[in-house]
Amino acid sequence: MKKSIILLLLFVFTLSSAFLPSQCKHSSGDRTYNVLDFGAAGDGDSDDTQAFKDAWEATCGSRAGSPATMHVPSGSTFFLQPIVFAGPCTSDVNIVINGTLIAPGPSQWKCKKNKCKQWITFDKLNNLHISGSGTINGEGKKWWGCKEGFVILHSNNVYIRDLAFMDSPQKHIGIDRSKWVYVTNLVITASENSPNTDGIHIQRSQHVFIDHTHIATGDDCISIGDGSAYLNISSITCGPGHGISVGSLGHNGAKETVEHVYVSDVELRGTSNGVRIKTWQGGRGHARDITFERITSYDSQRPIIIDQFYCNGHHNCKNHKSAVEVSNVRYNHIHGTSRGEIAVEFACSETVPCRDIYMNDINLVSGVSSCQNVRGTQHEVSPSVPCLT
Ligand SMILES: *[C@@H]1O[C@H](CO)[C@@H](O)[C@H](O)[C@H]1NC(C)=O
Ligand SMILES: *[C@@H]1O[C@H](CO)[C@@H](O)[C@H](O)[C@H]1NC(C)=O
Repeated sequence: MKKSIILLLLFVFTLSSAFLPSQCKHSSGDRTYNVLDFGAAGDGDSDDTQAFKDAWEATCGSRAGSPATMHVPSGSTFFLQPIVFAGPCTSDVNIVINGTLIAPGPSQWKCKKNKCKQWITFDKLNNLHISGSGTINGEGKKWWGCKEGFVILHSNNVYIRDLAFMDSPQKHIGIDRSKWVYVTNLVITASENSPNTDGIHIQRSQHVFIDHTHIATGDDCISIGDGSAYLNISSITCGPGHGISVGSLGHNGAKETVEHVYVSDVELRGTSNGVRIKTWQGGRGHARDITFERITSYDSQRPIIIDQFYCNGHHNCKNHKSAVEVSNVRYNHIHGTSRGEIAVEFACSETVPCRDIYMNDINLVSGVSSCQNVRGTQHEVSPSVPCLT
C-alpha cells in the first residue's frame, strides 16, 4: 500500500516537471526582456507605453537568480506616455536604454485626470541599474511645462549611468525620498532660456553620489532641496545654467534642512551664480556642513553666493525674524573669472547670521566681495571679504 503511494507520487512529479516551461528549468542566468518582443513599435510615433508596461511586468516579476534586464534597443525611438515602473521586484533589475525615449507634447499628454507631474517614474525599487547609450528626450521644446522628466522615488541602491537626457519640460532627473543613489557619466542638456529645467534635483534623500556628469540647462545644474544629507557631487561641468544650488529652503516659513554636502571639481561655464546657498526669509531649519572645493569659474556671474533673502525677486522680501541657519560652510581652492560686478556675495540675515564660514585659496577675477552678517575666516582670498577675519 505505502509503496504504491510513493510510486504514484514519483510518477506525478516526473510528469509535471516534464511539462514545465523550459525557462523554469534554470534558476540562474540572465533574463533579458526586449521591449520589441512585447509589441513596441519603436517608430517614434506609435504609443509604446503598453509594451513597456508589459516588458516591465515580466522583468520585475522575473524569478531569475541573477538580475533581470529590460532592454530598450538602439536604432529605435519609443514614444511613451507617463509611466510608472513600480516595485518591489522579485530580483534586482537592470534597465538598458540604448534607443531613444520621447515624451508626449502638451496636447498629447495622457494620464488620469491629467494629474501626473512626472513622465517616467521609478518607485519603490531596490538594486536598480539604469544604463545605456540611449537618449531620454522630454520634448520640452514644445512647451517647457510643469512635467518632470525622470524621477527616482522611494528607492534604494539605484545606479544611473551613461545616458543622455535632453529637453525635459521641467527638471530632468528628480531623486526623491531615496537612499544610496549613484549617478555617473550623464549628459543633460536643454536650452539656456528654458525655465525650471534643473539638471538633477535631490530632495528628502541621503547618500547620493553624482560624478562625471555634464549639465547645460536653463536652471540649476544640480539643486539640493529639503531633507538632503550625505551628498557627494564631483567632476561636474555646469553651464549654461544657474550653477549648483542648495535650496531654496524655508519657503512659506517651512522648517527645512540640508547637511553633509561635499561638492568638488566643478567647472562652471558661463553660469549665473556658481555655488549657491539660498534660503527664504521667515523659514526655519538649517543648511550646514557643506564644502565646495576645487571649483573653476569661466565667466560665471557671482561664483560664490549665500543668499538668505531669497524671494524670487519680488514680493514679501522684507526682513523676517526667523531664517534658515547657515553654518559650517567651507570654500576651498576656487579660481577663475567672474562676470558681473560681484564675485563673492554673502547676504545673511541680521537675526540669524551665517557662521563658521571658512574660505581658503580663493582667486576670482575680477569683481568685488559683498557681505553682511557673516562670521568666519579667510585665508588667501581675492577679492577679500570684509566681514571675515
Ligand atoms: C547597449 O549599448 C552599450 C554601449 O553602446 C553596449 O555596450 C551594450 O552591449 C548594448 N546593450 C545591448 C543589450 O545591446
Ligand atoms: C566623493 O567622491 C569622489 C569621487 O568619487 C571621491 O574621490 C571622494 O573621496 C568622495 N569624497 C567624500 C568626502 O566622500
